[in-house]
Amino acid sequence: MTDHTAISFLPYAKQAITSEDIQAMEAVFRGEIITRGPQVAEFEAAVASYVGASYAVAFNSGSTALRAAAFAAETKGGDRWITTPNSFVATAVAGAAAGAVPVFVDIDGETGNLNLEQLQYNLEQKPSRGRNIVVPVHYAGIPVNMKTIDASIRDTDTILIEDGAAALGSTYDGERRVGCCEWSHMTVFSFHPAKLLTTGEGGLVTTNDPHLDYRLRLYRNNGIVREPDRLSENPGPWYYEVVEMTGNYNVTDFQAALGLSQLSRIHNTIRERQQVIAWYRKYLEGVAHVKLLPALKDSRVSPHLAVVLIDFEEYRKERSLVMTQLRDNGIGSQVHYIPIYRHPAFQQVSGILSDYFPASEHFYARTLSLPLYNGLKEEEVKRVCQTLSAVLEGKLL
Ligand SMILES: Cc1ncc(COP(=O)(O)O)c(C=O)c1O
Repeated sequence: MTDHTAISFLPYAKQAITSEDIQAMEAVFRGEIITRGPQVAEFEAAVASYVGASYAVAFNSGSTALRAAAFAAETKGGDRWITTPNSFVATAVAGAAAGAVPVFVDIDGETGNLNLEQLQYNLEQKPSRGRNIVVPVHYAGIPVNMKTIDASIRDTDTILIEDGAAALGSTYDGERRVGCCEWSHMTVFSFHPAKLLTTGEGGLVTTNDPHLDYRLRLYRNNGIVREPDRLSENPGPWYYEVVEMTGNYNVTDFQAALGLSQLSRIHNTIRERQQVIAWYRKYLEGVAHVKLLPALKDSRVSPHLAVVLIDFEEYRKERSLVMTQLRDNGIGSQVHYIPIYRHPAFQQVSGILSDYFPASEHFYARTLSLPLYNGLKEEEVKRVCQTLSAVLEGKLL
């Protein structure tokens, strides 16, 4: 085991907070408003402009943003919430919590994203009732081909919601960014600290549809309307009406100030992370049975995770032992993701589904996320790759 006093621990993910970020938050604390206020509106406008959408609505988490999107789309019992098993559970829970039936489609082993042929097959099955709500996830920041999905939808009732939680800055074609909603109704982002931009906790939905924007805002603020033309009566300046029962999912002005400050350097954030991926490519080259997720090499990707696929069987090593030995040698790692249908909450409803998803199962058996964050140095990436190789070969305990 390596002497921990000599080296720093490299977590699999970490936020990067600068003194400018802290100054931006401090300015809010020194002012009058710390709840949702002008900074939130400014942050929304800045994200909408960055991704190329007309509207953006900020929430207290990406999970809430997904639920808000389900609400805005008027998701209900009988709808089919069609998504990937290779995601954080919130992607599927948002639909299930609104009463829809989660329907999983297997993945493409090269990208970790939805298998679009299987999705097409699924969309050709006319539902006996309800609508199809399709929720592709841009896994690890790798953009799904939304043009292809959009083209395969013939039914005008079908709703498309992109889970771009981890894909801020990724582009579909080198130009249009995830979130522009050119081929979808809404796109959801997360600003959890493991993502490219953080507000501590936080999330956001973009759309080009004013009605969806209105419903997203309703969801965020207890279903309250104040606009005179939306009220059934207007007895005075105190008056508002609750037209939907939702909750309070606001984000604060100091979080938005942090988000705005982080957004101002997003270009460098993405470039630095792409450089880290290039170092992984260089130092993993000679390591047998380990490959960086090929799709991560694509320059259109804002890398969220440094996913490697490892053939643990070839090394006759359990992944859990590899993770423990990496940790004992100062390296954090994580698995993204446990296929959603494997979680007990989903098994209780649908039973054991693993046999129906061979590509997801194969991917899950091999995936491991290695350290990726802004500020990670080339020497550290080299150390990760050398340590991983030594652990796999049984040269390090
Ligand atoms: C793909 C995906 N969707 C949704 C979420 C939920 O975001 P949050 O953690 O901000 O609630 C995450 C975050 O882990 C995610 O990775």
